[in-house]
Amino acid sequence: MSVPDHVMSNRDFEKFLDTSDEWITQRTGIRQRRIAGAGESTATLAAQAARAALQDAGLTPDQVDMIICATISPEMIFPAVACFVQAQLGVDNIPAFDISAACSGFLYGLAAGSKFIETGMYRRVLVIGAETLSRFSDYTDRSSCILFGDGAGAAVLEACQDRQRGIRYSVMCASGSGWDYIHVPGGGSRNPATHETVDQRLHYIKMRGRDVYKFAVEKMQWLLADCMDKCGLKPADVDLVVPHQVNIRIIESAAKRVNFPLEKVFINIDRYGNTSAASIPMALVEARREGRIKEGSMVVLVAFGAGLTWAGTVVRF
Ligand code: ACO
Repeated sequence: MSVPDHVMSNRDFEKFLDTSDEWITQRTGIRQRRIAGAGESTATLAAQAARAALQDAGLTPDQVDMIICATISPEMIFPAVACFVQAQLGVDNIPAFDISAACSGFLYGLAAGSKFIETGMYRRVLVIGAETLSRFSDYTDRSSCILFGDGAGAAVLEACQDRQRGIRYSVMCASGSGWDYIHVPGGGSRNPATHETVDQRLHYIKMRGRDVYKFAVEKMQWLLADCMDKCGLKPADVDLVVPHQVNIRIIESAAKRVNFPLEKVFINIDRYGNTSAASIPMALVEARREGRIKEGSMVVLVAFGAGLTWAGTVVRF
């Protein structure tokens, strides 16, 4: 994983917004987030995370067959962040593309990458989740800007003969009728950039917070139940759930509704906020570092976000 050095605390928001550390901590569980500085962007964070993942796997960039990057805060509208990463890794002639599925993007990427491996087309796929949501956050909107942070995480998928290991189950869903729950209206084909779109702040994230909250609780609950049901798992069989780090209240409420013990749910939202597609791979890195994921661990990943999209993955490490 890779995160910017600069830490922005809740107290920093008190200096320019009508908000408080207490409100943000109680309503979201977030205490601080990382914010990209000069010279940092989605592609630089993505490339650093990619290098770290390759090093961890004992591989060199030329041993990778495909690069997938999940992001909703890309370097540019085009080309893809994955192409910038490929160039920074110094490799050529392999496919590289982005996935736009917001907070579910990394799990969409895992599903896509693993299918390329299962069909025998590729042997190793680098899957990255990378965001600089601070560049799209409206720092005059207290109800949304306090949520988001920057960072990147990456994983290398590799073919393996052991049927007990690896990705056991993937589910991906979307409901485009909820496109306006969270979106950036300006800068695309519908509202190309003009003075008016800038004046109207249309290049920033617009969010229906309460609706997103309800959607996220419902989908996290459904995903946990579906992942365990499809793999014949009971809560006792699962070593760790790594949810998209969206809001501590959403995570707690969904876990409680399916009677899943919170001690087995990984949380690092307090330190990074919501980093959308980067949140699950970053959490996986930290869970491994803390010894909460070991070889043989059964791990359930669940995510939900703009689109609307939601996805789940069951992995045995
Ligand atoms: N500081 C102080 N007060 C605030 C702040 C703030 N930062 N933000 C909102 N308030 C106020 C509101 O104005 C409102 O005041 P009012 O009662 O006088 O009208 C009051 O707090 C309550 O507002 P709610 O919106 O009801 O607060 P809620 O408890 O729902 O929390 C929050 C808001 C944190 C945004 C919550 O709804 C949430 O987390 N929703 C999910 C959002 C999310 O995670 N989005 C990202 C999805 S991921 C992706 O795809 C990018």
